Amino acid sequence: MALPALYVSRLLPDPVMAAIRERFRLTAVPAVESPSPCALRDGIREAEAAICTLTETIDDSVLSNAPRLKILANYAVGYNNIDLDAARAHGVVVTNTPDVLTETTADLTWALLLAAARRVVEGDRLVRACQWTGWAPTHMLGTDVWGKTLGVIGMGRIGQAVARRAAGFNMSVLYAGRHPVPADPRWDFRPLDEVLAESDFITVHVPLTPDTHHLLDEQALARMKSTAFLINTSRGPVVDEAALVAALRAGRPAGAGLDVYEREPELHPGLRELPNVVLLPHLGSATLDTRIRMGMICVENVRAVLEGRPAPNRVA
Ligand code: DGY
Repeated sequence: MALPALYVSRLLPDPVMAAIRERFRLTAVPAVESPSPCALRDGIREAEAAICTLTETIDDSVLSNAPRLKILANYAVGYNNIDLDAARAHGVVVTNTPDVLTETTADLTWALLLAAARRVVEGDRLVRACQWTGWAPTHMLGTDVWGKTLGVIGMGRIGQAVARRAAGFNMSVLYAGRHPVPADPRWDFRPLDEVLAESDFITVHVPLTPDTHHLLDEQALARMKSTAFLINTSRGPVVDEAALVAALRAGRPAGAGLDVYEREPELHPGLRELPNVVLLPHLGSATLDTRIRMGMICVENVRAVLEGRPAPNRVA
């Protein structure tokens, strides 16, 4: 029997590609890089199912060109790259990869927070550049993390996983979101402005939607303490990057740890030059185990839909 036709936009980890090749016929050879818009259209044209990543924009024009497509499995928990209304209109099921990357992304959030507060990357650069002249009482002083206040914006799965880790640092947790979460009575649900004004570390975990675009704009950043740090592992456009560069130059907030950017892989001019910022290349879910689990979830969702079962992780 002929295998179902699957389009995979990017090369996924080996065990995932092996599972895919066993069960499907690939309509295009996936590469490490994101396909060009033209290659995406060609690849998806005959496909019954597709696995795409956050770097591919899937809109009405792409879907109009894919008449046989039944499911689009997004290899990410966020799905702002997909026009859900267009998918519904074309009768295409959309799925994501929740849960499996929650703890991994929370770990990376803390890596950024600690690195920014304790100047880890600056210190590493200094040592490698042979510029370290020895211990000194006033050398490279950072900011304490333990005992401070963590402000979580968006207390969904990842926000909660980040907040749970704060207990190990004896921190208080304030959070803003659509509604209070019952997970831990010590976490304090507050209006966004209060979380911004009272936290020592602000960490952002909202999905990118029209409502959250530039949620952290010039006014919001100005509410932060001058000693505070902003950490973003959600989506770049949630923060107004131009406003952030200006705010960091002006010294409020004191620093930032960023994994995501408004126009990846480009950075707003000036951001790269700021010494008080730790910059990562969108690594939130980037561990081998997690990237394999994400791929297997995509495969499961594709199989379910093609076999006439409900998709376990349907978002549209
Ligand atoms: C997601 O899943 O949305 C991440 O950003 C991908 O690593």
